[in-house]
Amino acid sequence: MMRTVAAVAVAVLLAAAVAAEASELKVGYYDKSCRGVENVVKWHVARAIKANRKSGAALVRLIFHDCFVRGCDASVLLDPTPENPDTEKTAPINIGLAAFDLLDDIKSAVEDRCPGVVSCADILIFAARDAASLLSNGHVHFDALAGRLDGMHSHAAEAQQDLPDSTFTIAELIQNFKRKNFTIEELVILSGAHAVGVGHCSSLRARLTAPADQILPAYRGLLAGKCAKGPDPIVPNNIRDEDAGAVAAAIPGFLPKLRKVKDFLDNSYYHNNLARIVTFNSDWQLLTEKEARGHVHEYADNGTLWDEDFSDSLVKLSKLPMPHGSKGEIRKMCRFVNHH
Ligand code: HEM
Repeated sequence: MMRTVAAVAVAVLLAAAVAAEASELKVGYYDKSCRGVENVVKWHVARAIKANRKSGAALVRLIFHDCFVRGCDASVLLDPTPENPDTEKTAPINIGLAAFDLLDDIKSAVEDRCPGVVSCADILIFAARDAASLLSNGHVHFDALAGRLDGMHSHAAEAQQDLPDSTFTIAELIQNFKRKNFTIEELVILSGAHAVGVGHCSSLRARLTAPADQILPAYRGLLAGKCAKGPDPIVPNNIRDEDAGAVAAAIPGFLPKLRKVKDFLDNSYYHNNLARIVTFNSDWQLLTEKEARGHVHEYADNGTLWDEDFSDSLVKLSKLPMPHGSKGEIRKMCRFVNHH
């Protein structure tokens, strides 16, 4: 009897493991099981972005920080618990991650509609897709694949190991992306996400003392002034989202380029980069290698091409799988694994 129970338990576990690996991602995955779910997600994302466009930038960053660590399995959403106090979101590399409350609200609305059907991992991808689309006025757009399961593991050390640091050299950035099967071109394309959002001064410390051939001295002065104003303030990633007063004082020639609508997702990152006006060392590093530099010029010259290639690269990111043999589930709440 015991042997039969054990055999059945093993079979069930194996089935769950296989399900996690073999689940085929597809467009319209929830058409039958949770009709309209993508509209529910979009409604919430649109409302949040209307209230504050920063939540859109946070979602665009989350797709990267989830998918580069253990694949797109919502491991980045797990809160620390007494059993696992060091989840990914506690890692220093994940400083400033946001939009967790928004994803909780979306999950709760989706659970009301179809309990236990839609994974947090898929909700995150839908939400990031909608955010990228809304922030770009629809220029970045793609059909989102779905059918992922939520992972059961989340470790700060893995986030620290797998995600690139803003102090990385170009060689380190290329190597980091290569480990996930991403090319130099895709590194350049995806870095364009820094057209939106903010960064902490601690993430750009090295830029405050970088030489003039790496950063426009007037911009360096602007950043230094802002960063002196508190223990670790935040600054816009894109100078076009800076406050007019600071730009008028430091780089008056840039005033006409300031944007009325902040956090607009476009190819302005590449123009800023060529002008040595970008926040992170990792951004500037793209100019130090021939192929990467060529792509920076290419996307500065062709915004439509960037919109398309960025969309394709997000789809590629969204396909990163969980580690071989991992088990998955549909979480009830995105912050916690279900009880077993
Ligand atoms: C290439 C290597 C990358 C490095 C080194 C890097 C580094 C950073 C850092 C240090 C921050 C600021 C964190 C803080 O201080 O609060 C940041 C913000 C951001 N990153 Fe990246 N990043 C990289 C690639 C990407 C990619 C691939 C995406 C998305 C496709 C992305 C999207 C964003 C967004 C949208 C923000 C702003 C987030 C917000 O305002 O909430 N980054 N990144």
